[in-house]
Amino acid sequence: MLHSFGPDLHYAEGPVITAAGGFRFPTRMAVVRLDGGGLWIWSPIPLTAELRAAVETLGLPQALVAPNHLHDSWLDDWVQAYPQAEVHLAPGLPARHPELTRAQELGDAAPDAWAGQIDQLVLRGNAITTEVLFFHRASGTVLVTDLLQNYPVGWFPGWRGVVARLDGMVGPRPRMPRKFRLGFLGHRRMAGQAARLLLDWPITRLLVAHGTPVEQGARGLMHREFGWLFRRG
Ligand SMILES: [Fe+2]
Repeated sequence: MLHSFGPDLHYAEGPVITAAGGFRFPTRMAVVRLDGGGLWIWSPIPLTAELRAAVETLGLPQALVAPNHLHDSWLDDWVQAYPQAEVHLAPGLPARHPELTRAQELGDAAPDAWAGQIDQLVLRGNAITTEVLFFHRASGTVLVTDLLQNYPVGWFPGWRGVVARLDGMVGPRPRMPRKFRLGFLGHRRMAGQAARLLLDWPITRLLVAHGTPVEQGARGLMHREFGWLFRRG
């Protein structure tokens, strides 16, 4: 149920969901065990009894994190199950969740709960979504929600497969789909400043919400996929 992905970092696979246009997507969450023993939950998936039991073998959730506006679907499961946990939402999301009176909006500075253990930055300037990226220091892992993704050949049948291939989403390793690249047009300078900071992190691994976890070569991959935001040409 929980897969280890380095020191104090795990991930769990959720259900396959059907999104707009009938495209089916796998889902994934990550769990970091913080130094104090509490858990940091990224991109929460449905909280089944089985998942809850597995998570609680590591500890109790201390912080629940929705890293962009597309990854808050099952937050309420967790908020209700763990009323003591902090709730941290991507920019713009708190207004969509007025019921979460204890929610805080994520910025470029890590909250006290994970400062010094997980770094973060807001990648602004994309027309589709404003995503918060994270770097887990102990495992050298960067967590990217939707800006990088990949699916095996044949995952999307029929015309959806053609669309996915044209969008650059089909292949062995995560890439930035064309729609997200285009989404930065007109705001490249703003996004480029954040991308520089992102690539300063000593990245060795990459975990995405939809696609192949990368244990080797993640640094080069990140430079290829984000470096163009600030390079000339
Ligand atoms: Fe997603």
